[in-house]
Amino acid sequence: MKEKAFEKWVFGLFLLVSSLFVSCNQAEETKEFTIGFSQCTEGDAWRKAMHKEMLREASFHPEFDLQIKDARNSNAEQVKHIREFIDQKVDLLIVSPNEAEPITPVVEEAFEKGIPVILVDRKISSSSYSAYVGADNFQIGKLAGEYIANLLNGKGKIIEVWGLKGTSAAVERHRGFQEATKNFQDIQVVAEVEGEWEKEVAKKRFPAVFQKQPQIDLVFAHNDVMALGAYESLQGHPAQQQLKFTGFDGLAGPNGGLQFIEDGILDATFLYPTGGEEIMQSAYNILHNRPYQKENILNTTVIDGRNVHIMKQQANKILSQEENINRQQHKINEQIKIYNNQRMLLYILIGSLTGVVVLGAYALYSLRLRHETNRALMAKNREILEQRNEIAEMAKKAEKANEAKLKFFTNVSHEFRTPLTLILGPVEDALQSNIPMGLKKDMLLVRQNAMRLLKLVNQLMDFRKVERKKMRLQASESDLVRFVEEVAQSFERLARKRHIQLKVISRLREINVYFDKDKVDKVLFNLLSNSFKFTRENGKVTILLELSEDRNHVLVTVEDTGKGMTPAQVANAFDRFYTAEDNTSLGTGLGLALSKEFIKLHHGEISVVSKEREGTRFTFSLPLGKEHLKEEEIVLETPKAEQNAPLVAGVLDADLELFNGQSAPENASVVKEHTILVIEDNKELREFLSSRLMADFNVVEAPQGNYGLQQAFDLVPDLIICDVTLPQKNGLEITAALKTDVRTSHIPVILLTAKDSLEYKIDGIQAGADLYVTKPFSYLYLLERVKGLIRNRELLKVYYNSAIAVDTKVHTSQPKQLDKKFINEVAALVEQNLQNPDLSANDIAAGLGMSRVHVYRKMKALLGYSLNDYIVNSRLKKARHLLLNSQMNISEIAYEVGFSSPAYFSTAFKNHFNMSPSDFKASKPGKEKKTV
Ligand code: FRU
Repeated sequence: MKEKAFEKWVFGLFLLVSSLFVSCNQAEETKEFTIGFSQCTEGDAWRKAMHKEMLREASFHPEFDLQIKDARNSNAEQVKHIREFIDQKVDLLIVSPNEAEPITPVVEEAFEKGIPVILVDRKISSSSYSAYVGADNFQIGKLAGEYIANLLNGKGKIIEVWGLKGTSAAVERHRGFQEATKNFQDIQVVAEVEGEWEKEVAKKRFPAVFQKQPQIDLVFAHNDVMALGAYESLQGHPAQQQLKFTGFDGLAGPNGGLQFIEDGILDATFLYPTGGEEIMQSAYNILHNRPYQKENILNTTVIDGRNVHIMKQQANKILSQEENINRQQHKINEQIKIYNNQRMLLYILIGSLTGVVVLGAYALYSLRLRHETNRALMAKNREILEQRNEIAEMAKKAEKANEAKLKFFTNVSHEFRTPLTLILGPVEDALQSNIPMGLKKDMLLVRQNAMRLLKLVNQLMDFRKVERKKMRLQASESDLVRFVEEVAQSFERLARKRHIQLKVISRLREINVYFDKDKVDKVLFNLLSNSFKFTRENGKVTILLELSEDRNHVLVTVEDTGKGMTPAQVANAFDRFYTAEDNTSLGTGLGLALSKEFIKLHHGEISVVSKEREGTRFTFSLPLGKEHLKEEEIVLETPKAEQNAPLVAGVLDADLELFNGQSAPENASVVKEHTILVIEDNKELREFLSSRLMADFNVVEAPQGNYGLQQAFDLVPDLIICDVTLPQKNGLEITAALKTDVRTSHIPVILLTAKDSLEYKIDGIQAGADLYVTKPFSYLYLLERVKGLIRNRELLKVYYNSAIAVDTKVHTSQPKQLDKKFINEVAALVEQNLQNPDLSANDIAAGLGMSRVHVYRKMKALLGYSLNDYIVNSRLKKARHLLLNSQMNISEIAYEVGFSSPAYFSTAFKNHFNMSPSDFKASKPGKEKKTV
């Protein structure tokens, strides 16, 4: 808003500056006053001189616009011009009338219309004018008369050459002359020539008049040019030189009276000033409302041979001054032009400067505004950022809290698994034995509920996985029809029992789909459980398999004729947080929500249609093909390891049957070769494991981590079973400690945990665990794995032995790094000290920086025999090598490999290789072969 106002202001300022600028330039061109000048003629030098003066004078007044119209001695023309000036509404009218009478009315008209009128040189027959500028023609005529009377000494004949008869100048001059000569009887004007002010007219008309009056003495002409005309008309006539000629005007310059006098043409002229300057002065006064005189009579004088020189000089001076003035005027004009240009430039500069200042101010203003806006924006940003951080913080906290809740929830669920293992194990035991019918029923009830609880726990844990996006699809291609039929089969007994018709309908005999068997099994199991739960006796449960219309999906529908769902239940069927009032109607509510997640993982959809008291239809779709699946989501078959997690009845049954077969676990007479350390904080589970493992192994128990670790170091057992979640030190830490200690690094470790997630397994394996078993587990499965690991260890022993038997280096990647190092170090120490007959296990243990007991146990565990046996074996193997590949004799070899006497060597060699060294050497069996 502010910016808009400022923009308007700037725009306004610009307009103002530019209008000022324009108006300054316009003032330059606007003339304030228009002056119309109606000139009777401008064909003669006198009037030309007048114009020159007027224009010069006008140039001093730039406000004057002087417009001159030439009537060419025509009254009609002049009247027309004056009227035009009137119409033009000139500010002032100057008239130099041709003749007085014809011009008078129009001048009066102008004057009456308020236009100031200045008469010049000649007058009109009225006083309706503002001012008159010119000499007094009567006086000048009189002056001429007096001069001529004097020149002719009071006697003489004269021809008078008249100006235009109707003009006041001619009339007045004539009157003045008459007045001056009336007293001189002998001065006579004998003839008149109508010269009409024009030289040529006078020249033409004069000769005829002269011929009639040749006895004249003087030609009295009303102006200098007519006198010249008369003179020239007498060219070649003696009278030309004898006669005297006078004129009026006395103009300077080559065609003026002064020159005619100097040239001897005229005898005298009477100065009649043009008055241009005075005319403009009067105009100035009138137009500027200054005081002015109506009658402005110009001075006159006589010019003849006596003063012509001075007059000419003065005139020349005036002329040169005028020229000077003109030049200066010209210069001034140029200066004015320059000044105007500069002024213009200045205006432009001022304008630009103003523009720059204004724009600068605007820029500053904008900058400030922007700055303010930026500041405000930054503050807003900060605020938003703070809010965002706050929200993020809150979200984090909420997430943490949620996470903590879920964690707690999951941990609690985990906790259920151990007791469930312990409940189900004995229950299954009891069910397999001969127990009274009543108790069996109870036991079945216990098993059923324990299984239900287990299922719930599993579902909760699956949810946790879904929540943490840890649930991964492990799809493999299988025939879905067969799979569905198999799942349906497990409900057949129930269907029969409750007289419910269970059907699997599929038009296609086989539909191969990529799906995660475990997850689809759970979905189907859940949907069928629901259907059976809400379908009464004699009802129907149908599973329909078909392809979608576009044949891109397979649709599986589980339909029942059960009690149906309310619209609200339908709307929230898959919402895990929805608790219907009648919350029994949808089971725990978890199964359907989880089913939805599982189907979503398959990129499929699940929906429900239900009507109360009519039934419910769940349909889920699975896409065909495998393009929708990620590479890591496709497996060849569901991995075996995964199968150990769910504790399904069948597996448990098998386990228990086996348990039953091994009825006497504690058989004292059996010598047990291997020792197993069980580190488990749960007393029941620890005791359960101990009691069963005792059948085959020596079992040592440890209820917590540190103690367990200590036991491991002290006893160096053959295998360790360790729970992951333990007080003090967890299973992962214990495993890591065991596997990084040379004393225990060879011991296989089985980690037990309820945490059935890949990460935990990876963590466990990274810590060095040999196996990861998730609770609840099948004991038989565990037992088999224990046996397998011990068997592997035995095989490893054979491997080590055979490897060492040949050369002392171990080239295998199978044994653990630390064990390899241990064996290499033992081998190197023995090799280095082989010559020493006193070399003992103590020396080697000291060399290894381990206790003798640990070295002994480790040797036993890895190689199956003692260090001393190993030393003797090494001596013998080296001896065998020397016997084959050296020139040494038997005694030398005996000492070389550290036997105290050749006899002892021979006995030992014979015991080991079943032949004496000498026989061996004699038989020369060739190159030694690698024993595997
Ligand atoms: C010029 C002129 C002058 C004379 C004046 C009288 O046209 O003839 O020679 O003095 O007019 O009006």
